[in-house]
Formats: sequence, structure tokens, C-alpha cells
Amino acid sequence: MKEIKNNSLRIHDVSREVTLYGWVQKKRDLGGVCFIDLRDRSGIVQLVAREGEVYDIARGLKSESVLKVIGIVSERESKNPNLDTGDIEVELSSIDVLNSSRDLPFEITDDTTALEDTRLKYRYLDIRRNAIKNNLITRHKIMMAVRKFLDGKDFVEVETPILCKSTPEGARDYLVPSRVNKGKFYALPQSPQIFKQLLMVGGMEKYFQIAKCFRDEDLRSDRQPEFTQIDLEMSFASEEDVMSLTERLLAKVFEEVKGIKLSLPLRRMKYDDAIRLYGSDKPDLRFDMPICDIGSIFEHTSFGVFQKVLEDGGIINCLVVKNAASEYSRKKLDQLTEFVKTYKASGLAYLKIADEVTGSVAKVVSEEELSQLREQLDLEDNDLVLIVADSNYSVVKTSLGALRCKLAKDLNLIQKDDYQLLWVYEFPSFEWSEEEGRFLACHHPFTAPLDCDVDKLLTDKAHCYSKAYDIVINGYEAGGGSIRIHDEDVQEKMFRALELSEEDIHEKFGFFVEALKYGTPPHGGLALGLDRLTMLLEGTDNIRDVIAFPKTTSASDLMSECPNEVSLEQLQELSIAIDE
Ligand code: AMO
Repeated sequence: MKEIKNNSLRIHDVSREVTLYGWVQKKRDLGGVCFIDLRDRSGIVQLVAREGEVYDIARGLKSESVLKVIGIVSERESKNPNLDTGDIEVELSSIDVLNSSRDLPFEITDDTTALEDTRLKYRYLDIRRNAIKNNLITRHKIMMAVRKFLDGKDFVEVETPILCKSTPEGARDYLVPSRVNKGKFYALPQSPQIFKQLLMVGGMEKYFQIAKCFRDEDLRSDRQPEFTQIDLEMSFASEEDVMSLTERLLAKVFEEVKGIKLSLPLRRMKYDDAIRLYGSDKPDLRFDMPICDIGSIFEHTSFGVFQKVLEDGGIINCLVVKNAASEYSRKKLDQLTEFVKTYKASGLAYLKIADEVTGSVAKVVSEEELSQLREQLDLEDNDLVLIVADSNYSVVKTSLGALRCKLAKDLNLIQKDDYQLLWVYEFPSFEWSEEEGRFLACHHPFTAPLDCDVDKLLTDKAHCYSKAYDIVINGYEAGGGSIRIHDEDVQEKMFRALELSEEDIHEKFGFFVEALKYGTPPHGGLALGLDRLTMLLEGTDNIRDVIAFPKTTSASDLMSECPNEVSLEQLQELSIAIDE
């Protein structure tokens, strides 16, 4: 058995005889002496093969061959400060080639230039690279820290089913045909939401699970069709209880995995304020640059565009980019204009602050308005003011919110290794879906409205707010949860608010509504995205980097080539015909 980690050898091991195992990372044959970098999961140690049989074997080794070697640790003549084991090397007395490797599709190096598709096809080779390997180790450490912490807080880990009932609300389900019950389907769980609530009805009081979830949705760099949640639920708990427990859990994870101390309690911001100030429900607070409302300054403006917007009940908002006016040429500003247009803004006006102000609206802004702008926005020379005016509140906020993040990237305003966490809370209960022409649940249909808004469920959906909260880290939604409805009448009201018919409610959620009738305790919880948390802690913006065997953006696995066609017999057994 392998007992020594290659990376553990140090100067105090000199003269010790060691048996090591690993892969040939690199070999240098200097004629009569051959150096080998032997890699295992822990790292690299240099081996030396001098003359005789070991030298003959060593010089013939191919990269990624698997070795068992025996040798004596000795002090290196020329040390390598870049390597943990850089003070020593191992003088070999024997080399046993346990297996060889054929020519590699790409080199196993940290700075590989291999295309991602090639790396995904040979994922088992990609995992040999430090980048992926270390991410998987970080993921493991997070899971261990979570289990230890929650176990210590009296939570019980319970597994919930993977073959579930399809209850469409939210993303699309992955369906699994039933062979025994022809024409019927299971759905893979989008989350264990209903089950964890039923565990509360079942009196488990504190539940958690590191749970696989499946969602058939459009993929992005922070989304996978199959992902993992750190899912928890607590009975007799308030928003405050869930948020406080979660932030202590996160503090533990940050400390154990990265040695970073979070300062608690974390910052909190109401949803409406997050949108107003940052144009996003997941604001990145690693840089400031809030959105400013300058509408009141233009109440009596003679500029037609602004006048019209205000008359139509719209808003005029801006970003102030400090000391950046000189960096933005006309061409660059045109590019920013195109950028905000992708968020449906009709344009981007700008002012470059100097003794003599210039910019697209410099001529139409009066002296009085300019001086009010200078005062309200604390403007200094070389500041750039970027303005969006529109009759649609959310177009202004969303476009400036996205622009704010783009500017921060372009201007390098984000410091490496900075972590800014905050709670965004009091989300609206519903969001209007243009596509479906109805209100959808903003979080999910089990989220309790604020006590003062229960009556609005059926009368004023647009102004009904909920006991929902998201944990946001560096502009990512790392988790979300809520206090749930535990009263069957309120739950039925919620289903009706979502325009589900009596029949739908009964058919899809009947068992759940039934359960609420049997002494359901008040309860609430949350789920953290394990993949996103790992991404954030490892500083990657590609979710595939933190998943051992991920899917591409078209939801396929390039290594095993799935999804794949199945045999006609398999389909017939399931009574399924493919409609070409
Ligand atoms: P929600 O849908 O907000 O809540 O999901 C919780 C967290 O899971 C992560 N996440 C994803 N990660 C990777 N790929 C995806 N496709 C993906 N979708 C979501 C995010 C998100 O914040 N049942 C509720 C939780 C609750 O109310 O307790 C739920 O699933 O980090």
C-alpha cells in the first residue's frame, strides 16, 4: 500500500529509505543521470536515477507512466524554492514500472492550452492537473466542514428520493419513464423542497442533506443541469434564525477551507434597495459605484428626452465613474451605449466633468442643473457620469446594474481574494412573466408572504412581499431560502394566486396540502449551491472546473457521450416511440 505522500518529504527525511508511487510528470536525461518528477495527488518529488539498471529504465520512461520506486532521500545540490520538496531528491535503487501510458491528447500541466472540449473528453486526465484536482479537494473540504458544523448543531442528514413526482413550477423537469406503470413518468428532483418540508411535518425538526438536484434549463457558466445543494430546513425557526445559522456555517467553511475570517453578522439589504442602488438582486459589493437617482434635478429641464421620460412616470439614473473620463474615448462610449441597449435601454447619455463639461448632453444641461449634479454626486474633475433615462424603472436599473459590473471589470476595480457577502431579503412574492402572461412565484410556491401581506396574495400580487432571503457572494447568488407557509389556507391561497386550478392543485400538490392539515410546525430553511460556493472559494468563474464530471452547455458529457440513443427494445419496453 502507498504510505508516503510525495509532497511530504523534507530535509529532515535525508538518509531515509522510502517507497514512493506516482506518475511520471517529467523526465530529463542528462546522459548517465536521469531526473524524474514523480507526481501523486499531494504533489511532486524529484527522483534521481544514476547509471546501471535504474538509469536504463528511467531514460526509457514515458510521461504519465505509473511507477513504484525505492530510494534514499538526499539533499539537493541545487535547490528549487518553487517546490515544497525542493530541498531534497530521492536517489533511486529500484524502479518498478506498474503501467505505461500511451501518447497523451494533451500535456498534464497547470497552464495547459488544450481546448476545454478535449479536456472534457479526457476528463480523467484533466483531473490529474492541479487546477481541477485542487478544486475537487476544496469541494470535499467544504462538504466535510458543513457536515461537521451541522451535526454539531443537532441537524440530521436525511436522504430524499431521486425518482419523484413531476410538479412543474420553476425550471423544466428531467423525466424518467416508468416501465412498470406504462405511460407514466417520474421527475428527477429540482430540489428536495417538498420532501424537506414533509420531514418537518414528520417531526425531524432539523434536517440537512448534500443533495443532487436536476434542472433542465438553459445553461450558463454558473449553471449545470445536475448540481449539488447544501440543503437545510428547521422547524420553529424565524428568518433571523435561518440567516444567523447559515452565516455561522459559512464563516466555518471560509475559515476551515480558506483560512478567511468573516465578520458577522453579514450585511443585509432589502430586495427593493438592492435593485434601487445596484440594479441587481445579487449586487457585487467588491466595488462601490451605486446607481444615483438624478430625476429631481431635471424636473424643469428643457431637454425633450428627459422631459418626456419624467412625464411618462419614468426615472433618470446615473453611475459616476470616478477619475475615468479621460479613459473613455467616443468609440468606447459608443460601445457602452451598445452594451446598455442589450438591456433594452434606449441609449446612454454621458458627461465628462472638467472646468468645461463635455459629453453627449453637455449642451442641454443648464448651469443650474450642472451645479446641482456636482453637489449631489460630489463630482470632481475627470469623473465620468453615465446616464440612462427611461419610462421603465426596471430597464434603467437593470441596464445600469449590468453596466456597473462591466465597468468594474474593465477598470480593474475588483481586488483579488476579496469576499463581499450579504443577505438580500424581502423579495417580492411574485414576478410577472411576459411569456406566460401571469404572475409566477419569485422563489417557489411554498414561501410565506410577510405577515402584513397575506391578504395581498389574491388582491395585490405586485406589492406582496415574502419572507425570502438570498445569500449573495461577490455578485453570485450562492444560496436562497425562505420561511414556508405552514397554514393550509394560506398555501391554497398561494396556489390560487399562481392561477393553478383546483384540479391542478389537487393533482400536483394534493398530498402536500393534505400533509399541512396534520399539525405542521412553522418552519423555514435554505439551500446553498455547493458548486457555486466552491467556484467562489477557488476563484473560478466556470462551474465545470469544480465538478468532477460536468456537462457542457448543451447538457452533454463529452467523455461518456451522453445523452445517447437507446435500443428499440429499451424504448418498446417503456412503450415509447420517438417522433422523428
Ligand atoms: P434555489 O432554486 O434558489 O432554491 O437554489 C438554491 C441554490 O442552488 C444553486 N443553483 C444552481 N447551481 C448550479 N446550477 C444550477 N442550475 C443551479 N440552480 C440553483 C444556487 C442557488 O442559490 N428549494 C430552494 C431552497 C430553499 O428554499 O430552501 C431552492 O432550490 O446557488
